[in-house]
Amino acid sequence: MKISPSILSADFTRLGAELKALEDAGADYIHVDVMDGRFVPNITIGPFIVEAIKRATRLPLDVHLMIEEPERYIADFADAGSDIITVHVEAARHLHKAVQMIKESGKKAGVTLNPATPVSTLEEVMGDVDLALVMSVNPGFSGQGFIQASLKKISAVRAMINATGRSIELEVDGGIKTSNIKAAAAAGADVFVSGSGVFSTPDYKKTISAMKEEAMTAKA
Ligand code: DX5
Ligand code: ZN
Repeated sequence: MKISPSILSADFTRLGAELKALEDAGADYIHVDVMDGRFVPNITIGPFIVEAIKRATRLPLDVHLMIEEPERYIADFADAGSDIITVHVEAARHLHKAVQMIKESGKKAGVTLNPATPVSTLEEVMGDVDLALVMSVNPGFSGQGFIQASLKKISAVRAMINATGRSIELEVDGGIKTSNIKAAAAAGADVFVSGSGVFSTPDYKKTISAMKEEAMTAKA
């Protein structure tokens, strides 16, 4: 069970301190939300900031590209120090190629899909990826409510992963809190992104520990 706090909800005037606090709090990854103002309305972080984040933490960087034609920027994000690079099936016209590019850059490859995109869009690349991400909100902003129908999707992706016989991480992103993490874990997720669910609480360590405990009870 891994927690990947989304740095988008951090206080950017104190980014180094926030990263240190997450490390001390037991975070497993740092989730970095990259938005281009085209695939999603918002504009956020580019390779320059990813490179700064890399220098400020030992935790693996879980980079979520919400950008059109991600193929154009994979090399830049790989060079900036990403450890996992995840692309959207809706944004990559040549999804197979994008996955190969990520792997050739020596990074772990992830694929993700929007709430209205069917799970079947992952089928042809599942044999090649290291991580599948189910979006449980429409991408673009933190602080949105968890879409309940995502639970059924997580179960479907879990079945697809098990059928490959490979070890592929199943991540969920959007609206995850201590109160609903158990349901997502029960559906089959094992990596949990949380932005506001961590950063709106005063004690990150307490929150991340509680999240892990809750998630574990689903597996017990
Ligand atoms: C949404 C982003 C998420 C978001 C998570 O577009 O991909 O990673 O920042 O934030 P919360 O947990 O607040 O929904
Ligand atoms: Zn994200």
